[in-house]
Amino acid sequence: MSGRGLPCSPAEISSLFLFEKLSPEQLGRLCGEGRLERFEPGPVYTEGDPATCFYVMIEGTVVLYRRVGADDVEVSRTSQRGVYSGATAVRATATLRERVAKMRHKLAVIASGAYDPEALARLIEIQERTAELVAKAPVLSPLEASDREDALTDWLDDHDVPEGWRIAPTFVQAGLDTEWLEQVAAAVDEDTLPGAMGWLNYTVETELLMDEIGDSTNRISHLVDAAKQYSQLDRASYRVVDVHELLDSTLLMLSGKIGRIEVVRDYDRTLPPIPAYPAELNQVWTNLVDNAVFAVDSAGGEGTLTVRTAHEGDRLLVEFRDTGPGIPPDIRGRIFDPFFTTKPVGEGTGLGLDISWRIVVNKHHGGLQVESVPGDTRFQVLLPLTAPGPENAQDDPETAEEPV
Ligand SMILES: Nc1ncnc2c1ncn2[C@@H]1O[C@H](COP(=O)(O)OP(=O)(O)O)[C@@H](O)[C@H]1O
Ligand SMILES: [Mg+2]
Repeated sequence: MSGRGLPCSPAEISSLFLFEKLSPEQLGRLCGEGRLERFEPGPVYTEGDPATCFYVMIEGTVVLYRRVGADDVEVSRTSQRGVYSGATAVRATATLRERVAKMRHKLAVIASGAYDPEALARLIEIQERTAELVAKAPVLSPLEASDREDALTDWLDDHDVPEGWRIAPTFVQAGLDTEWLEQVAAAVDEDTLPGAMGWLNYTVETELLMDEIGDSTNRISHLVDAAKQYSQLDRASYRVVDVHELLDSTLLMLSGKIGRIEVVRDYDRTLPPIPAYPAELNQVWTNLVDNAVFAVDSAGGEGTLTVRTAHEGDRLLVEFRDTGPGIPPDIRGRIFDPFFTTKPVGEGTGLGLDISWRIVVNKHHGGLQVESVPGDTRFQVLLPLTAPGPENAQDDPETAEEPV
């Protein structure tokens, strides 16, 4: 970054769509408090940096990257004057908003002089410690939780705190116990105790809500990453890939379908990345996982899916092993045929293995094989570790030979 303190002209920034409605006075202030900077090619800021500025582009090109696994993926590029970034999107649930409003109301009560300054200082100190406790709250068994709730409700009733039965579960969820209640009671007068408890209850609820929002945004961003990785929409269709990343994103995308089937990942992390069509490979994993899940579910739903990777000579093996009932020998020769299915109408198309064959064998010059006995079925995908010669690279999967 260089050229700090370039002259900012109100006339120039007034032509940006963001600022076109500002008065000359406001534009002047913006120029005074903001600054014009010139950035050399390279990162301006990185996700996770503290937000210090609101940026508006006056001239140049800005590229937005998103980190997907170990790669930076370009998500947008623009030279449009006036594009901006750094405005934070704040997600807040309606409940959080409501709690904060109630806390504001409490503040008004406090300001009216209901608490003496020393008690207030102690209360705020307790509030700080409470917020820390919430972050470390242990997970209790339902029985432990209900015992604690009873104890806290009794305590609150004994100390004339209204609606103890409503507050107690929140306090328990936050990891607070009667010992903590005693500390609060020791810090404030008897007649301010109910108010203090109400105030701390809001603190706890707010902390819990923020945890919840934090967790869900994390989950959402993981899912978005996985969905992107899975769809490969913004990636080259043929490139060098780490099969483990593809497997992980597929398993995450299918986690709802996998349900309570145990998934074991037995990855050989020393395997090199390989040249492949990742979106297509994800389709293969999807089909094989889907079949394994169906097989295990049909046998009662208790079982294991093991996804294993290994070196197999000059090829990379990806094996999907399930503990389902297996494939009867008399149909084993037909399962790769298009439209062959043993599933009820509407549940199977009979195309999963046919498509997988086309992708693995025809498109990747790999192998697809199956071994099956009741309780142990293994679909094995073998992929070349290196790219095929150019004479093979142009194969069109649609016209390539059918499996027999
Ligand atoms: N893991 C497995 N366990 C038992 N049978 C399987 C398994 N995978 C595939 N099959 C058999 O192969 C058939 C064809 O599979 P597929 O081509 O994926 O079509 P679909 O799943 O739509 O039936 C299935 O209907 C099933 O009979
Ligand atoms: Mg299938």
